Amino acid sequence: MKKGIIILGSSNSNGDTYKAASFVSQQMNYSIIDLKTKNISEFDYEFKNRDDDFHPLIREIVNQYDFIIFATPVYWYTMSGILKTFLDRISDCLKIEKETGRKLRGMEMAVLSCGSDKQLKNGFHMPFVETSKYLGMKYIADVHCWVENDTLPDVVETKLKDFINQIQ
Ligand SMILES: Cc1cc2nc3c(=O)[nH]c(=O)nc-3n(C[C@H](O)[C@H](O)[C@H](O)COP(=O)(O)O)c2cc1C
Repeated sequence: MKKGIIILGSSNSNGDTYKAASFVSQQMNYSIIDLKTKNISEFDYEFKNRDDDFHPLIREIVNQYDFIIFATPVYWYTMSGILKTFLDRISDCLKIEKETGRKLRGMEMAVLSCGSDKQLKNGFHMPFVETSKYLGMKYIADVHCWVENDTLPDVVETKLKDFINQIQ
């Protein structure tokens, strides 16, 4: 069994993306790291933010897990700003946290998205696919979800079960 972690990048810690992420978390026994509770600032070319929460968090992830599920709402057709900031900071691992960066190689990733639309626009997954290639990670699967009346509809639960089967 892979040891995985869900990285939640929503502006709402208990929102729709959390609901879908929780379904996966419960079925797979994966923990959720809520980026909203972390102090992670935007990429800085001078690395003046090196003492914020990013470096301890990414070290914990590469040292304890071999599979990452990025869980993001769709905000303006793309991933959330919180998650984009986290991905931007992975650039630190190419410059000043190189040992950590090397450990990303060979790790697996998947993407869980949640939007009000049932379909994503073309290209939504491209930044994840290309980032995984650049970092030497393996892109395994993705799933798109939505919530109706505050609950995951049956069709979304079925999609999530298929997703779980793909990533196990
Ligand atoms: C700033 C913002 C932008 C949004 N843009 C989109 C969008 O482009 N496409 C879409 O399907 N839903 C869009 N939505 C709706 C959210 O993706 C949807 O409500 C989602 O379930 C929210 O998840 P959350 O509770 O984790 O934030 C947007 C919502 C917000 C707040």
